Amino acid sequence: RWSRADSGRLDVSVPSMAEDKGKEMKLVTCTAPVNIAVIKYWGKRNEELILPINSSLSVTLHQDQLKSTTTVAASRDFKEDRIWLNGKEENINHPRLQSCLREIRRLARKRRSSGDGNSNTLTLHHKIHICSVNNFPTAAGLASSAAGYACLVYTLAKLHGLEGELSEIARQGSGSACRSMYGGFVQWIMGVKEDGSDSIAQQIEPETHWPELCVLILVVSAEQKPVGSTAGMRTSVKTSPLLKYRTEIVPKRMKEMIEAIKRQDFELFGQLTMKDSNQFHATCLDTFPPIFYLSDISKRIINLVHRYNSHFGETRVVYTFDAGPNAVIYTRKQHVDEFVEVVKHYFPPEENGEQFLKGLPVNPVSVSEHL
Ligand code: DP6
Repeated sequence: RWSRADSGRLDVSVPSMAEDKGKEMKLVTCTAPVNIAVIKYWGKRNEELILPINSSLSVTLHQDQLKSTTTVAASRDFKEDRIWLNGKEENINHPRLQSCLREIRRLARKRRSSGDGNSNTLTLHHKIHICSVNNFPTAAGLASSAAGYACLVYTLAKLHGLEGELSEIARQGSGSACRSMYGGFVQWIMGVKEDGSDSIAQQIEPETHWPELCVLILVVSAEQKPVGSTAGMRTSVKTSPLLKYRTEIVPKRMKEMIEAIKRQDFELFGQLTMKDSNQFHATCLDTFPPIFYLSDISKRIINLVHRYNSHFGETRVVYTFDAGPNAVIYTRKQHVDEFVEVVKHYFPPEENGEQFLKGLPVNPVSVSEHL
């Protein structure tokens, strides 16, 4: 099954904001896109603050394709904070959720006492109800937590009238979420400080920078992954010698990747992306007990990409896989149709069914795993 995306622009938007003074209720709705890493984050040096063992870099996808939408309502009539995810009520006391709520409220109080911005006193005293939905499978290794937490933090910030750097708070929901706070090409700088204040996301280039770049998502399975990223990377940190080696190798890769993106050098961008994906999955295999995210179909896709590229004697398409079997393919506009035909040939659409790789245009946009 396959799907294809067209290109677009990435940003976090605020489609609606309504305030009814009589009832003292405020409602804010925002959307946030998924991001797909080309230099992977895998492993924390501090679990509570979510501080990584290496920097990482991703492309934020167009939010018309893969996105989270979150509405937050604040009212004096609400007795307690509550949250619904994809229509089902979840426990608001989840520690990562609480970290985001606490940090946003702390920032709002700080801004209010320093007289900065237009922090809203009303909403600071009220309980909130949060409702969040994804338009793609949750926890199938399609970066749902990144979009989910980025969206939550941004919506809460809007509710409180907060502007400015928020990636440090989104990071405390899910590491990869900090990168979804920006569109285009984004690095998450690991930072060195113990309090995490320098572990933030930074845009390298905006979404308009590389218009030919496209992304295809080949949906191999929409099922929930057997080992979540959080648990998986915890075991890798404890048991994988190969993961330690990444702290040496990633800084050089980050530099090269930033150069490749700035120069729009697809050959270098592609080689680094595939090598980093492969090393991440090698680390998973090096974890004890081993973690398998790639399926046989994922491996067939990897082989197909290499065969396709060597046929033309250049890198035309590249793959990367997160914590699941679904392939994310980066390519350039001129090769999209051709490669899609090749994929259809080798993986014929199911006869009577949804034929689904969701076609995503890749004018880079992206998000992360979910609440
Ligand atoms: C393989 O951000 O989901 O997608 O911080 O524990 O929530 P937590 O992990 P998460 O990990 C994402 C891992 C990855 C690689 C990446 O996005 O960089």
